[in-house]
Amino acid sequence: MKKLLVANWKTNPLTTKEAVKLAKAEDHKGVVIAPPHVFLESASKTLKKAKLASQDAFWGDLGAYTGEISWRQLKEFGVEYVILGHSERRNPPVGGGETDELINKKLLSALEGGLNIILCVGEPKEIREKGIETAKNYVQNQLEKDLKGAENLKLKTENLIIAYEPIWAIGTGTPDTPESAAEMSIFIKSLLTTNYSLQTKVLYGGSVNGRNSSGFLSHPEIDGALVGGASLNPEEFNKLI
Ligand code: PGA
Repeated sequence: MKKLLVANWKTNPLTTKEAVKLAKAEDHKGVVIAPPHVFLESASKTLKKAKLASQDAFWGDLGAYTGEISWRQLKEFGVEYVILGHSERRNPPVGGGETDELINKKLLSALEGGLNIILCVGEPKEIREKGIETAKNYVQNQLEKDLKGAENLKLKTENLIIAYEPIWAIGTGTPDTPESAAEMSIFIKSLLTTNYSLQTKVLYGGSVNGRNSSGFLSHPEIDGALVGGASLNPEEFNKLI
């Protein structure tokens, strides 16, 4: 399985000029770039080798959904992947986050619309402090709710990618260890093989940077990384590539 690097720019950068510069610097095979929606069009025109992702996609097609962006509109810009269930959308700083039910609705409609999903799961600190088995139960519960009904779709391996992102590791500078990220990856893969007959890629995300990436990326059970902060610095991101 080839390794995949997903660059999640979150709400960065400020200008189109900067976004185009960043997209050019990160335009490599095996890379998926998720810019903010406002830069999708310019990124789409810039990228030749990397694939384009959206940081979210609404479940509705076209209609009266003020402020939302539908999977069909995203496809118009050449978007092939969508990140769903990121912990910053599940628990945004302003409150009112996404439930597993909403994530499930978005996931099913984006899959039916032909987008590939990068589904983020991961436990908060207080759960992990109870041990990795409690964390596995938490992640299993997220996966079962988020993927409800997906067993009825004929999914190919590239249609569904799971990103294991322990919340306590995101943006904190304190990543998980490659060994326990791999243990979680093995657990997720076995669940998906049993319940959905899928050979799924499992990425690790949470404070991955140029110094620690090789521990994750060289591990046979970790199929790539979802990278936030380090993807805003082309020099740093190129070390990962
Ligand atoms: P980080 O973010 O690399 O800045 O920790 C990862 C993510 O939120 O996907």
